[in-house]
Amino acid sequence: MNDQTSANLALSDPQADPASSLLADRGHACVVGLQFGDEGKGQVVDALTGHFDLVVRFNGGNNAGHSVRIGNQKFALHLIPSGVLNPRAINVIGNGVVIDPEGLVGEIDALRARGVAVGENLRISDRAHVVMPYHKLQDRLMELALGRLHGQTAQIGTTGRGIGPCYADKAQRTTAIRMHELVDERALRRRLDTAVEVKNVMLAALAGYVGEPFEPIDADALFEQYHELARRLAPHVCDTMELLASARLEGQRILFEGANAALLDIDHGTFPFVTSSNTTSLGIYPGAAVPGGTVSEVLGVVKCYTSRVGGGPSATQIDDELTADRLRQVGNEFGTTTGRPRRIGWLDLMAVRYAAKLNGCTGIVCTGLSVLAGLPRLKVGVGYRVDGRELRHFPADAGLLERIEPIYETVEGFEGPIDQCRRYEDLPQAARTYVEAIEGFTGVAVRAVCVGPGRDQIVPRPRASSAN
Ligand code: GDP
Ligand code: IMO
Ligand code: MG
Repeated sequence: MNDQTSANLALSDPQADPASSLLADRGHACVVGLQFGDEGKGQVVDALTGHFDLVVRFNGGNNAGHSVRIGNQKFALHLIPSGVLNPRAINVIGNGVVIDPEGLVGEIDALRARGVAVGENLRISDRAHVVMPYHKLQDRLMELALGRLHGQTAQIGTTGRGIGPCYADKAQRTTAIRMHELVDERALRRRLDTAVEVKNVMLAALAGYVGEPFEPIDADALFEQYHELARRLAPHVCDTMELLASARLEGQRILFEGANAALLDIDHGTFPFVTSSNTTSLGIYPGAAVPGGTVSEVLGVVKCYTSRVGGGPSATQIDDELTADRLRQVGNEFGTTTGRPRRIGWLDLMAVRYAAKLNGCTGIVCTGLSVLAGLPRLKVGVGYRVDGRELRHFPADAGLLERIEPIYETVEGFEGPIDQCRRYEDLPQAARTYVEAIEGFTGVAVRAVCVGPGRDQIVPRPRASSAN
């Protein structure tokens, strides 16, 4: 890393570091999204890494896109934990992550080309599963098949990264490939032979069904390509359970970085319009192989409005395209991974409260407050009504969610710009009232507010004025 970049990326003195106010104790912590993804988790993780020795991903794959802005440099991280921009942190990709070797090697090369060191600071679990090109094809063909069967509204709108088919193979077992097999020439050959045989039958049928051409996969060519990628990744592959166990014993501090978000959780999200992993703090234990209760601090990230990319219900989606488009443009709400425009909604406190409860949040960080500046009035979803009946809890049934009429409260807006504010007291009163409503509704303290995506745009909330 050249000196200038390293100076840019080095964290400031923790005493003057606003992120220190985010942490209530000295234990292990996690950062998770409380909405539909893209809440700004990357920014929060990056801001916190100076307080941790290791940063660990435990779920998802390169469907995630975590953007981190440092000065005028913008980084987008997909598989590598956002701790990589802090030269001190060890970054771990846990066993619960699905790894696209081509994507990961590309990400490593792109970071190195920008002066970011990626070497011994990156460790990859030998038990993580491998995303292969046929998973991406299966992902695309399944979406086409759904579209053909039931139309566009039935499609999940996946990122096309092969995430679902890879996790499905993990559950299927015999067609899966793990990292320890990828880096073992004979094991890779054996596993590929089985998987390719099965995939060729399955994908030919699926392609035929949707009328797409299909060229059978050549196991030899795939082996050559993946053997070469394995050579690049092998130095990073290790037993990350042992690594994390030793780190805990030595008193090192671990930060777990959630990917995707609570409402996309395979078990607890808006099923079937979800991703294929456990995206909440509940997923840390199987996904990173640390004992239950390891994490004492669960920080939930809440964007002050809602964004959703892909299919599925979003109860508070804004119908007025002018307002939605304004928020999309000001908030730069275009996918970090796929570039797709995100659907925009008002803040949905029913969903956020559900997500905070599910995660066991101990603190909240609000992002995107500056995006709302200048709107005279803001709507906040505070309840759900279906068929004239008010729901007490977030429902299991995505069909029901589609029919929800949100109950809104309209609150006073505030004038901007606020992106230069660095003290909570300097925020307009109406902006503080808005943020404090999130705390009031969820019962979880708001620890900080982001007034933009920059590393220096995290405004700490003075402890005395927060709920716990
Ligand atoms: P992540 O996936 O949770 O790390 O979030 P992304 O980086 O994918 O997306 C965050 C989105 O929120 C981007 O489109 C930002 O432009 C937008 N955004 C609006 N306000 C803020 C803010 O205060 N902080 C951050 N980090 N993002 C913001
Ligand atoms: P980060 O970590 C936003 C969405 C996809 C799709 C659904 C399933 O950046 O917050 P998948 O490819 O996982 O099978 O797609 O989940 N999705 C995300 N949306 N942010 C993400 O991650 C997402 N990861 C998955 O758009 O609707
Ligand atoms: Mg994202």
